[in-house]
Amino acid sequence: MKATIAVLSGDGIGPEVTDQALKSLSAIEECYGHQFELPTGLVGATAIDATGDPFPAETEKVCQSADAILFGAIGDPKYDNDPNAKVRPEQGLLAMRKQLGLFANVRPVKSYQQLLHMSPLKPEKVANADLVVFRELTGGIYFGEPRGRSEDGNKAYDTSIYSREEIVRITKLAFQAARTRSKRLTLVDKANVLATSRLWRDTVNQIAPEYPDIELDYMFVDNAAMQLIQNPGRFDVIVTENMFGDIITDEASVITGSLGMLPSASLGDKVSLFEPIHGSYPQVAGMNRANPMAAILSLAMLLEYSFDLTEEAQSIQNAVESCISANIVTEDLTEGTASGTDAVGNAVARFVRESKQVGIKSDL
Ligand code: IPM
Ligand code: MG
Repeated sequence: MKATIAVLSGDGIGPEVTDQALKSLSAIEECYGHQFELPTGLVGATAIDATGDPFPAETEKVCQSADAILFGAIGDPKYDNDPNAKVRPEQGLLAMRKQLGLFANVRPVKSYQQLLHMSPLKPEKVANADLVVFRELTGGIYFGEPRGRSEDGNKAYDTSIYSREEIVRITKLAFQAARTRSKRLTLVDKANVLATSRLWRDTVNQIAPEYPDIELDYMFVDNAAMQLIQNPGRFDVIVTENMFGDIITDEASVITGSLGMLPSASLGDKVSLFEPIHGSYPQVAGMNRANPMAAILSLAMLLEYSFDLTEEAQSIQNAVESCISANIVTEDLTEGTASGTDAVGNAVARFVRESKQVGIKSDL
């Protein structure tokens, strides 16, 4: 197939991990006869430095006309430490989500047998963790109006708003995902307190009869936060609103002990975006130390979700596992000798090629 993937590598370790994902993409092109065009765009602090805008119109155009977006990370400590900064890299991320209509953030959390000892939880608790969170991404308190400060500066307010329509579209995706997995869906909300949560329950209940094969349950978010740690294996698919999703996905991301392994998708009606969840990690940027596996696995999600290339996606996932088994991993995954970002990227691409037995390259 021929397709266009916009590449927005962003800040911090974004560029170097994205480069590694592109090596696997080349391997996929070669092995499976695809051709991808890869226009690039600026986003985040890099975009502010160059244009004053964290999500410039030019970048939006590149994204709108692409078939999928591969994204690295945004964020720079020089903005975090300045409470008076007028523009922040994070605004670019929120603008990108809103303007591209990326309404469903999908974050799978899966433990790897070889990495169980890395988890902060007991290995036996984590061994069967395999869940995915569907977080609503363009509504709720992140975007609701009015928001702001009172004139005297002593009060501030944010507004959480949801429409039934916004809840329906992500809920359907979550039910469909449950169908391809263990057929269990948990709605995480705070329906004992919040009106928006009661609309979520109402709406999800209305849709449930369309999916009689899926076992639906509900959980208050505080309880869910606890159960994720106590018994992550009890969850299969979780659907939740924007802010709750932000919090529980960070929590869920450490369950397996390997933040550097977790990819994500932000799905929209027209175009979808794929990114590692670890962020810009400026402390090691440019040092060839960052784990590129989450970026590489995000590429696998991209191939599967945007182009239905399941075999290609699987081949990348297998290559990542082969790499872990061969102990070709970055410092976050081993107490022994660590490989650099580059070496891991090369090795994954090589395993992809080997699995297709086409032109084995010895670029390890
Ligand atoms: C995330 C991040 C963002 C969010 C920040 C950087 C605005 O935490 O993608 O989860 O809160 O959504
Ligand atoms: Mg977050």
